[in-house]
Amino acid sequence: MQRPALTAAAVLGALLLSCAEPPPPAQPVPFSHRIHAGTNGIGCRMCHAYVEHSTVAGIPSMARCFGCHKFVARDKPDVQRVVQTFQEGKVLAWNRVYRVPDHVFFTHERHIAAGLRCQTCHGEVQQMDVVRQASPLTMGWCVDCHRQRHAPTDCLICHK
Ligand code: HEC
Ligand code: HEC
Ligand code: HEC
Ligand code: HEC
Ligand code: HEC
Repeated sequence: MQRPALTAAAVLGALLLSCAEPPPPAQPVPFSHRIHAGTNGIGCRMCHAYVEHSTVAGIPSMARCFGCHKFVARDKPDVQRVVQTFQEGKVLAWNRVYRVPDHVFFTHERHIAAGLRCQTCHGEVQQMDVVRQASPLTMGWCVDCHRQRHAPTDCLICHK
């Protein structure tokens, strides 16, 4: 008599799994947005410097990290790894969390100019120790918001 209940649970589990966003990728050094953008209040644009003027937001260079960490938290082993990587002239290979397929055109500039907050699409990043995908990135997600905000919905806007 347990079988139908189990089957229902399995179906529900599969449904939940198929709705959930993918788990965050591994990163070369644990980098916490909660510590940087939350506790220490460092602005998003300090590190994602291109976001207002470009398609991409940009990931900070090692020199940017070193700019603070030549002084800050030098006793922490993870910070020592960051500083050492910079001094060896190497880079940390961050793995991407958000990505749309190559056939889709997305640009930050226009969305920031329209007054959208980072958190609308990326969630409360300043509370996250590990950045995880907070939006589905499906066509429906893009188009629903475009409809609500009277932004264009013709195919060639997003598919060049
Ligand atoms: C504007 C200054 C600033 C920049 C730029 C910066 N950090 Fe930090 N970082 C901080 C501060 C402040 C702390 C907190 C120090 C503390 O709590 O003692 C910190 C802490 C850390 C920690 C230790 C976290 C912990 O407590 O375990 C790591 C690792 C780290 N940063 C990595 C990086 C990396 C990698 C970059 C470049 C992508 C970077 N930081 C850029 C200011 C900065
Ligand atoms: C001190 C530098 C620093 C600050 C400040 C900072 N970030 Fe980041 N951000 C990074 C680094 C380094 C990565 C790459 C590592 C990772 O994904 O955690 C990153 C990754 C991200 C990603 C994922 C990018 C991808 O791979 O797709 C998003 C989204 C993001 N940040 C948004 C924000 C927002 C929103 C704020 C402000 C609330 C912010 N960041 C503040 C350094 C910073
Ligand atoms: C309208 C939704 C939206 C808003 C608002 C938004 N982003 Fe993004 N972001 C995305 C999407 C979609 C991607 C993946 C783009 C791709 O694959 O080309 C992305 C990618 C990123 C990345 C990784 C790739 C890159 O562009 O460097 C970072 C970092 C990032 N966003 C930071 C930010 C920050 C910081 C803000 C606020 C200042 C912000 N985003 C506002 C949707 C948004
Ligand atoms: C939260 C709402 C929201 C989401 C989500 C969103 N957009 Fe937008 N998008 C807008 C707004 C608002 C504009 C600005 C329209 C304007 O400038 O008049 C815009 C503008 C654009 C433009 C520029 C249009 C032009 O006139 O050239 C492109 C391209 C675009 N979005 C692509 C995307 C893609 C691709 C996604 C999904 C990956 C997406 N957007 C997700 C709200 C959103
Ligand atoms: C606001 C942005 C936006 C607009 C407008 C848009 N798309 Fe898309 N489209 C996307 C995104 C993002 C994806 C990739 C994610 C996905 O497959 O859901 C996508 C994926 C697709 C795919 C591939 C689906 C797959 O299974 O790989 C096709 C085909 C497509 N779109 C056709 C269209 C057509 C036709 C229109 C016009 C009626 C259109 N799109 C308008 C954003 C958009």
